[in-house]
This record gives sequence, C-alpha cells and structure tokens, in this order.
Amino acid sequence: MGGQHKSERLQYFIEQLSRKCSDSNSLLDGILRMARKITRADAGTIFLTEGEELVFAYTHNDSLFSADEAYKHAYAAIRLPISKSSIAGYVAATGELLNLANVRALPPGVPYAFNESFDRKTGFVTRSMLTLPFLDGSGKRLGVLQLINSLCPAQGRVEAFGAEMEEDCRMLARAVSGILERTALEKKGIYGILRMAAVHDPTETGPHAERVGAIAAELYHAWAVGRGYDPDRIRHEKGCLRLAAMLHDIGKVGVSESILKKPGKLTEEEFAVMRGHTAIGASILAEDSGEIAALARDIALHHHQKWTGRGYAASGEEGKLAGEAIPLGARITAIADVFDALVSPRCYKKPWTFEDALDLLRKEAGEHFDPELVESMIGLEALLPSIYAVFPDKN
Ligand SMILES: [Fe+2]
Ligand SMILES: [Fe+2]
Repeated sequence: MGGQHKSERLQYFIEQLSRKCSDSNSLLDGILRMARKITRADAGTIFLTEGEELVFAYTHNDSLFSADEAYKHAYAAIRLPISKSSIAGYVAATGELLNLANVRALPPGVPYAFNESFDRKTGFVTRSMLTLPFLDGSGKRLGVLQLINSLCPAQGRVEAFGAEMEEDCRMLARAVSGILERTALEKKGIYGILRMAAVHDPTETGPHAERVGAIAAELYHAWAVGRGYDPDRIRHEKGCLRLAAMLHDIGKVGVSESILKKPGKLTEEEFAVMRGHTAIGASILAEDSGEIAALARDIALHHHQKWTGRGYAASGEEGKLAGEAIPLGARITAIADVFDALVSPRCYKKPWTFEDALDLLRKEAGEHFDPELVESMIGLEALLPSIYAVFPDKN
C-alpha cells in the first residue's frame, strides 16, 4: 500500500477506535491488533505508566493463546520500574524507540538486558522486538508498546522489524496517545463521582465498584461469546458495561446516612427510602445523553429486580419487571454486585468463599438471577481471583 493511502487508512482506523472504545481495555486491544497487523508480530504487550512504574496493561500472543483468550491476561498484575535496565523500562525512561533484531544478541555496551523469565516460564522464544513509547502532546510518556517476533509472510520465520514498520507504529502511537488521554479523562470523571459517593457510603468504595465493573464486563464477554456475537460488538459493549456497572449504587448519595449506616434492621419506611436509591441513581444519570450514561441509568434503576419479578425499582412497588424484560446490563450487574457483597467482609458477616458464593448463585438461578447468566458466571471461576488481586479492598 502507498504511503498516503496507508496513513489515511490508519487515520480512519484510529477514528473508529476512538469512537467505539469506551474503556481502556478495548482500546488497548484494538491498538495491539492494528500494531501487530502492520508489523506481522506474533505477540505484543502494552504497558502503561503509573508513577515511577510501568504496569502491564494488555497482551496478545498467538503462539501461546488465542486472541479470544487475551482478555484473561488483562488482569495479570505485572509491574516494572521505569529504569534503563529493562528494554521496556529503557524506552519509557528515555522516550527512544528500540528496534532489536535479536534480543539474545544485544549490541555491546547497552544498559538494558532482555528478561528471559517469561520465555522460561512459557516456552515462548522471543527473538526480534520493536519497543516504542506513547507520548502525549507535551512529550510525557504515557506508556510503552512492545511488539515481538515479526513473522516473514512466506515462511513464517522470525525476522527483524523493518524501518517502514517503525514509522507506521510511531504514527499509530502518536494518534493513540490522544485517545488514551481522553479516556483517562472520562474515567477520571467517573472515578470522581464514585469518590464523592464513597464519602457518604463507605461500603460502595472504589474497589467494590471496580470489581463489580470488571466482573460484569467479563460476565457479559463470556455470555456474548457463547451466543456467537460479533467480536467488535462484544468489545464495544463490554467496555461500556464495565464503566456503567461501576455506577450501579450511585443513587445512595440521596439516601440519608442514618439509614445507610443503621446497624440493625430497617423499618418498612426506612426500607422504602433505601429502595429509592435505584430511582435516585437513574435521575442523577438522566442529565447525560451518552451511551454509557443510558446503560448506567438502566443498571441503576433495575439492578435490584429479580428474575421472577419479586425485585424492585424505585421506592414503592412500581417498576417491577421479570425475566428478559429486565435490561441485560442490570441482570448482569445484579449477579456481579451480589457476588462481590458475599465474598467481601462486612461488619455483620465474614467473607464467603468464592465456591460458596457461586453455589448461592446456582441456587438462585431462575429465582433471583437469570439462569443463563449464572451459567456464564460459573464459567468465570478461574478468572475471578485475578480480578480480586488487581482490585483488593483498601483497609
Ligand atoms: Fe443497589
Ligand atoms: Fe453494590
């Protein structure tokens, strides 16, 4: 493809990506896909800068697992110091691009070394590596894109990354930095709302909201893959749901603290006020016209509905729905919210084990919860501990 043409196509791709990706995981997935296509890389990883460290943010590896499995590795909590001793650290520290033909035969005198631990653990053989920084407008390093093993299209042999690939990736990294900044701002907005709400209601703190968002997103992913949905649609909706589910209890800001923090049982009137957090949440979110806000509104209003129609939305009996009439996002969030409440310590109870909590979901399938979604949730059993490792309770 010609230079002009290619840059237009890249531009188009980046616009699509920024329109469709509402959370950073689906954005990173899209970036990595494109970067690997341009460079024919067998594997790739994105690190994002967090203070003085690089945090492993997303990875693809065709030789070790399919792209559909890649999301499972999004919760691996790997951190690297930003220092010149590692390849990614060097790129983050200096802002320079490194194009290495063979990481096992590095030029003499370089300050960085190749870290073999991943290869040793997995049996993967890293050879050529292209590593470049994401820079924002002011030159601040937002993260690092690392591509591994460029495959020769004819024989599938590993070769060095070409100079043209370097240029294309630089262009991609520049454009992507702008999107990263924007999603960081949007996320900051949502986190700001959650922090304010947490002052009022400490049980709905950051980690609970983060976990409900992450579990809801993965539950949707598993369910939608099972239904054979289009991968682009799944990525998009998963991203929206993750953020929207975090706001499920935002309406608790409108419930008085004497009721929220009451140690004993609530009276019938108090419970009616408590039920009202669903409608208050929906009205708070009614101001915003965006897609995430619309989904968040559905979730806030309906996350206490039950599959059999015994739940509630708003303070009275109004708004009762059953079965598939309950919006999907709310059915998913109900499961994630109850699961997280069960496995978390509360002043009135010890945390349940994951097994016991999943057992309860199983018992409530077709009663409180959508039975098909409970099945998908059970399929996440192996992934759940890593979500809890990434978002632990802060004491
Ligand atoms: Fe709630
Ligand atoms: Fe909650």
